[in-house]
Amino acid sequence: MVDKTFETVKIEREGGVTFLIMNRPEKRNAMSPQLHFDMEDAVDSLWHDEQTQVLVLTGAGPAFCAGQDLRLYFRGTESDPVTQYKAHEASDNWRWLKLTRFPKLTIAMVNGYCFGGGLTQMAACDLAISADEALFGASEINWGILPGGNVSWIMTLLMSYRHAMHYAVTGDTFDGKRAVEIGAVNYSVPLANLREETIALATRMMKKNPAAVRFTKEAIRTVRTMSEVDARDYLAAKSAALMFRDKEGGRQQGMRQFLDEKSFRPGLGDYQRRPSGSDTKE
Ligand code: COA
Repeated sequence: MVDKTFETVKIEREGGVTFLIMNRPEKRNAMSPQLHFDMEDAVDSLWHDEQTQVLVLTGAGPAFCAGQDLRLYFRGTESDPVTQYKAHEASDNWRWLKLTRFPKLTIAMVNGYCFGGGLTQMAACDLAISADEALFGASEINWGILPGGNVSWIMTLLMSYRHAMHYAVTGDTFDGKRAVEIGAVNYSVPLANLREETIALATRMMKKNPAAVRFTKEAIRTVRTMSEVDARDYLAAKSAALMFRDKEGGRQQGMRQFLDEKSFRPGLGDYQRRPSGSDTKE
């Protein structure tokens, strides 16, 4: 597939890993209206792309994302309500609605500065790996606003109430290692190893049953705001839907390989995936 080209977004591929790159390095990938329009278009274009098995979101140059572009997103649309509305919509759509529902596993590869609204798309990805050297911050307080959009909300989902309150009211920065400690990212590695470690994780995930990965990530994300009773009901329906939608019959394969063939232990690793239709008996 020949990828579309965009003014502010780049797409790169390595095997089944697709890198979706915020590409305004000279502005530290601050999000202009154009970046939001390009990103929504790029995410849409990858939605049904069969080559993409894992989507990695990252930034070009020394930043992941320095938040909304104060000049172009805020000041630049003050007297243009139509562009302001369209930019707000595109901003919400790609960073949260679409990224959180993306059908393949998503990984935020945080290569540098991640400020303000940049936290939203970092949190929207299923997993996040940071460079030790990356610098995070809810910097809104430093220029007289509060963490808007959904940033205050996602901070309380990502970290404890105490940490969310601390980093929001002080605007203090934290690095990749601290981001791991407070639960904001999964791993932190030296910047020099970041891409390699991200590809290693993506490659490991590509060996798993894709339908099970998709349904599992949807389940984990959705039950967060449910009561226990609602979650049980939802998970029962979700499990039934997974069995219906899983073209490679993962459950049957796993059961057979563990119980009959005794060829693997699910506690310690994956079953051997076989071509669809080759293993349909329970
Ligand atoms: N909005 C608009 N422009 C931004 C921006 C933002 N959020 N973040 C960076 N830029 C621009 C700078 O204005 C500068 O533009 P110029 O070359 O035309 O002067 C360029 O990007 C490079 O930024 P600079 O500050 O020189 O780079 P740096 O590496 O020294 O510092 C940051 C990087 C991210 C620490 C710093 O730019 C910064 O604090 N940005 C604001 C972050 C923020 O508060 N974001 C939340 C917004 S809701």
